[in-house]
Amino acid sequence: MPKHMADKKAKVVVLISGRGSNMMSLVEAARARDYPAEIVSVISNRPDAAGVPWAAAQSIATEVIDHKAFKSREAFEAELETALVASGAEIVALAGFMRLMTPGFVARWQTRMINIHPSLLPNFKGLHTHEQALAAGVKIAGCTVHYVRAEMDAGPIIAQAAVPVLSGDTAATLAARVLAAEHRLYPSALRLVALGRTRIVDEKVILSEDVNDSLPLFSPRV
Ligand code: GAR
Repeated sequence: MPKHMADKKAKVVVLISGRGSNMMSLVEAARARDYPAEIVSVISNRPDAAGVPWAAAQSIATEVIDHKAFKSREAFEAELETALVASGAEIVALAGFMRLMTPGFVARWQTRMINIHPSLLPNFKGLHTHEQALAAGVKIAGCTVHYVRAEMDAGPIIAQAAVPVLSGDTAATLAARVLAAEHRLYPSALRLVALGRTRIVDEKVILSEDVNDSLPLFSPRV
């Protein structure tokens, strides 16, 4: 991971497919003068993604690359790669981007492409994560920011946040609690990546500074 100079912000492109609330949290965080990354572009693979007009209204460059217009995954990714290079992307942040990437594309961005998933990985990959968590009866749920690998919702874990599962939770109430945590976790994880404080060793992330909290989280409380 290249280290970025303190006075030089890492250029980040955010990829979305829909609502874009995590993209919004990154944009809001990047407004801070001392945040080490800037969001240079937002790209959606879906023309109807609600996040696109929001980003445009913030004067951020936006682009729609509709995957349905391409004959193959590789052709779609070639267009995406061109857009990423044109925008000077140093880091790619997936935020509700619902397309699997090919191994070739992932390899090119191996140490520079991150994703957020609304579960404590490696549990509950894929869709309907909150339904999966409720069905399993776990008492702690959460979200994960990780480097992207070709396998869905897998890759070296950068950061995780935990929230309790409460009696009477539905998938919707749990999703809302996890989403609030996502909005705090993603900017904080991107900050570490932009500062070059993450290193991948044996497909695990080593943080170069102690940013850990040793307090246990009990659910239910003790
Ligand atoms: C978020 O909860 C994100 O973690 C999830 O999609 C939602 C997008 O919401 N991503 C995945 O499930 C990836 N496997 P948003 O568009 O409002 O950020």
